[in-house]
Amino acid sequence: SSSLPVFSHDEVTKHRSLEDGVWVTYKGGVYDVTEFVPMHPGGNKILLAAGGALEPFWALYAVHDQEYVLEILSKYKVGEL
Ligand code: HEM
Repeated sequence: SSSLPVFSHDEVTKHRSLEDGVWVTYKGGVYDVTEFVPMHPGGNKILLAAGGALEPFWALYAVHDQEYVLEILSKYKVGEL
């Protein structure tokens, strides 16, 4: 179980820039990855997913299909959808 807040899709879409924060969703979780953007090995491509779902992008870039990538993502969890 989780004590994290529940966010709507509309709320997530408000966070699609470094200024407003970069939020993404993955399998029902909401992640604020703003601090990770400068560290992303794939550079600013990460911003293509800002405010929405990671799944369509990670389906295209299979480099993310590794356990340690999910461990990185998990550190930035801020809520549930
Ligand atoms: C590489 C994390 C979103 C494109 C990587 C790697 C990590 C990572 C850890 C290195 C993988 C490895 O080589 O072992 C993340 C996280 C994301 C995210 C935590 C979201 C929170 C995205 C998105 C895209 C993307 C949305 C594309 C639209 C890429 C590409 C690489 C990469 C192209 C390969 C870079 C290279 O090796 O030259 N990402 N990523 N990433 N990512 Fe992401």
